[in-house]
Amino acid sequence: MIPHNQQLATVILQRIDELASISEVTGAITRTFGTEAFIKGRSLVAQWMQQAGLQTHIDNIGNVRGRLPCPTPGAKTLVIASHIDTVFNAGKFDGPLGVLTGLVLIEQLIEQKKTLPFHIELIGFSDEEGCRFHTTYLGSKVVAGQFDNNLLGKQDAAGNTLGDVIKAMGGNTDLLSNDAITAANWLGYFEIHIEQGPVLYEKHIPVGIVTAIAGQKRIALTFKGEAGHAGTVPMHMRNDALCAASEFILEAERFAASHMQQVVATVGTLNIPNAASNVIPGEVSCTLDLRSPSQQVLNSCYTYLEQLGSAICQRRKITFDWQLVQESKPVNCDANMNRLLANAIRQTGYDVINLVSGAGHDAVAVSAISPVTMLFVRCYKGISHNPLENVELKDLAAAVDVSAAFINSLIQKYNKG
Ligand code: GLV
Ligand code: MN
Ligand code: MN
Repeated sequence: MIPHNQQLATVILQRIDELASISEVTGAITRTFGTEAFIKGRSLVAQWMQQAGLQTHIDNIGNVRGRLPCPTPGAKTLVIASHIDTVFNAGKFDGPLGVLTGLVLIEQLIEQKKTLPFHIELIGFSDEEGCRFHTTYLGSKVVAGQFDNNLLGKQDAAGNTLGDVIKAMGGNTDLLSNDAITAANWLGYFEIHIEQGPVLYEKHIPVGIVTAIAGQKRIALTFKGEAGHAGTVPMHMRNDALCAASEFILEAERFAASHMQQVVATVGTLNIPNAASNVIPGEVSCTLDLRSPSQQVLNSCYTYLEQLGSAICQRRKITFDWQLVQESKPVNCDANMNRLLANAIRQTGYDVINLVSGAGHDAVAVSAISPVTMLFVRCYKGISHNPLENVELKDLAAAVDVSAAFINSLIQKYNKG
C-alpha cells in the first residue's frame, strides 16, 4: 500500500522539526507550559495557522486556535486538536504530530475550496502533559468548559502559581470560561496521535483506532524517617526513608505486574532532600502514576497500594503521607465517529485495528462534553516520552490519507443533513 499524501507528510515532518528546534534547553526538546520556549513555539504554530488563512487567536489558557468557518447559520464545530507542550527531554511527535497533521488537512480543504457544513477549529492545546503544575489537560479542560478555578493556585517547582503564569503569558484568568466551546456547538472531536505503544509496530500496521483511554490516578507520596550519620547509626536502629520508599516501589511494581495487564504503576519521580552519601535519608518524596482501563480495577489497586505503603512504613517506623493529586476516569471514544473512522481506514486500504490507550490524551477532557475519536499512528518500537520517538514518512502519509477520508465522510454526512 503506497500512501498518496507523501508530499503533505513531508510538510508535516518539516514543521515538526522546526517546532522541535524550539526548546527550553539546548540539545533536547523540553517545552513545558508557559515557558519562553512554549510561547515561541506557540507563536510559530499561530503563524502557520494565519498563513493557512485560519481565523487565529491565542486564548486565555494559552491554547493556539485557528478557525475555518462555514457559512451555514447555527453550524456546529468539528475540533481537530492535540497539544504543543512536551515532557522533559521529549520526543518531537507526541502532540505536535496531531496539530500539524490537522493543519495540512485543513490547508487541503481550503485548496480544494470545499464547502463545509460545519466549522472546523484546529487547536494546539497549551498543556496536556502536566509536567509543570502536576495537573494535566489544562488547555483542553478550558475549551471543554471543565476547568476548575481552584487549579489557579497550584505552584510549580519555583513557587509560581498557575494563575500568575497565565497572566505572564498574556491570559486573563477571569475570562477562562469565555474560551469554552459550549455543549450545543460541538459536532465532535478528532485527535491524531502517535500510539506511544508497540502494538501497531509489532503488527506492521500504520494506523489504528482508539476505542478507550485508560483512567489514571496520580499520587504524591512522602516517606519521613530520621536523618542520621551513615557511619555511626547501627543498621537495626535506622529509620531510613529511602529504604521504605524503595520497598514500596518494588512491591508496587510486583503487584502491578501480577495484575494480568489490567493496571500499570509507575514511580516516575524521586526526591531526597538534603541527600548526601554520608547521611541516612530522613525524607523521600515520590510520585505514583496508576492507570487502568477499568475504574473498578483502578480503585481497588489504589486502595491496596495505599494500605501496602502504610504497612511497610508502620513496620519500618516511617511516617507515610499519600495525597491524590489528580485523577481521570476511563473514557470511551464515540462509537459512531469510530465507525466512520473505521470505514475511512478500510476505504484507504488498511486493516482496522482497535486499541485501548494507556496514555492520557486531551480527548479525555473533551469527552465530558463532545463525542471524541482518535487515530493512532505507528511509532518506532512504540517508544515515546523519549528523544528516540520516531514516525516514518509513509505512516504519516497513511494517517493523512485516512484522516482526509474521515473528514470527507463527515462532510458528506452533514451535507446530507
Ligand atoms: C501523557 O502523555 C500521559 O499519558 O501521561
Ligand atoms: Mn500526547
Ligand atoms: Mn505525552
